[in-house]
Amino acid sequence: MKNTGDQRLSRKLHTYAPDWLRILVTWINLKRIAIAGLILPKKCFVQIKPNSVDKMDYFPGIRDEIRSYNHDTSMAQKSLAVDGNRVIMLRMMLRQIASLPGGDYAELGTYRGISARLILRHMHPDAELHCFDTFDGFDNKDTSAETIAVRNRGIEGAFSDTSLKRAKTYILDGKSGDDRLNFHKGFFPDTFKGLEQHSWRFVHLDPDLYAPTLEGLKCFYPRLVPGGVMLLHDYYSFFAGVRRAANEYFTPRGIVVLPMVDKAGTGIVIKPTIDQFATHSDIANRDFAVVN
Ligand SMILES: C[S@@+](CC[C@H](N)C(=O)[O-])C[C@H]1O[C@@H](n2cnc3c(N)ncnc32)[C@H](O)[C@@H]1O
Repeated sequence: MKNTGDQRLSRKLHTYAPDWLRILVTWINLKRIAIAGLILPKKCFVQIKPNSVDKMDYFPGIRDEIRSYNHDTSMAQKSLAVDGNRVIMLRMMLRQIASLPGGDYAELGTYRGISARLILRHMHPDAELHCFDTFDGFDNKDTSAETIAVRNRGIEGAFSDTSLKRAKTYILDGKSGDDRLNFHKGFFPDTFKGLEQHSWRFVHLDPDLYAPTLEGLKCFYPRLVPGGVMLLHDYYSFFAGVRRAANEYFTPRGIVVLPMVDKAGTGIVIKPTIDQFATHSDIANRDFAVVN
């Protein structure tokens, strides 16, 4: 593992600093959570950097990366930009998912491309990323359905302050092109036509609303490879239609959605690798070999 700046500084301190300074620094170090807790507003709490950040060697420059997502966001959408937990979890997952034997990556709801940029950076180098969006904000058909399904108001016209060109430039981060990046501009599920034979290892569902979430589940979940991962952004957020669609789709299938500890309460579903259609009683009555 590489030495971080923190580690180098602490070694120097240990070797050269006088005792009183070492004791003071150790004291501040031990008390920093309490100190930060006093300073922060009630809504915030202190999260110690997870061990994985240092130990798994997955995260060179993680703080700069988190800050970099602030660059092209809007007031309507600050969740990835200011949410370190979300960035860390996505990066960790993408590394693990890359080891699956196959499947492409998809995102429904790309907007200005913040999460797509993260996916493209950390996905399997030989796979493709498919981004689906109107690039023109919510469609009226979906917002009308939303009002009926969960009575969310004030969402008409949201996320229209983008374009395919703008998202592409941001996702590519200065590169002129990338053959692995594909765009499907228009109303989903219409834009899914022609992709029925694709299989997916990672799907980021982030269209915010009931109707496109349900359509996304119908199109992508059956085509997720065994062990493939689907993320449902906003599973626990203001956008109640997401949870409604997910529960409607997964509950009858006996599949639970696990909440992630990011700000918008993303839900995670992992496609079972075996026994996909086994019932509880099938499993309970199975003869397990006992090995002594
Ligand atoms: C919250 S934004 C996505 C944010 C993006 N994933 C990120 O983190 O940077 C939601 C996007 O879903 C898109 N969307 C919602 N319903 C859609 C539909 N039926 N077809 C295509 N795009 C849709 C909207 O246009 C909007 O850009």
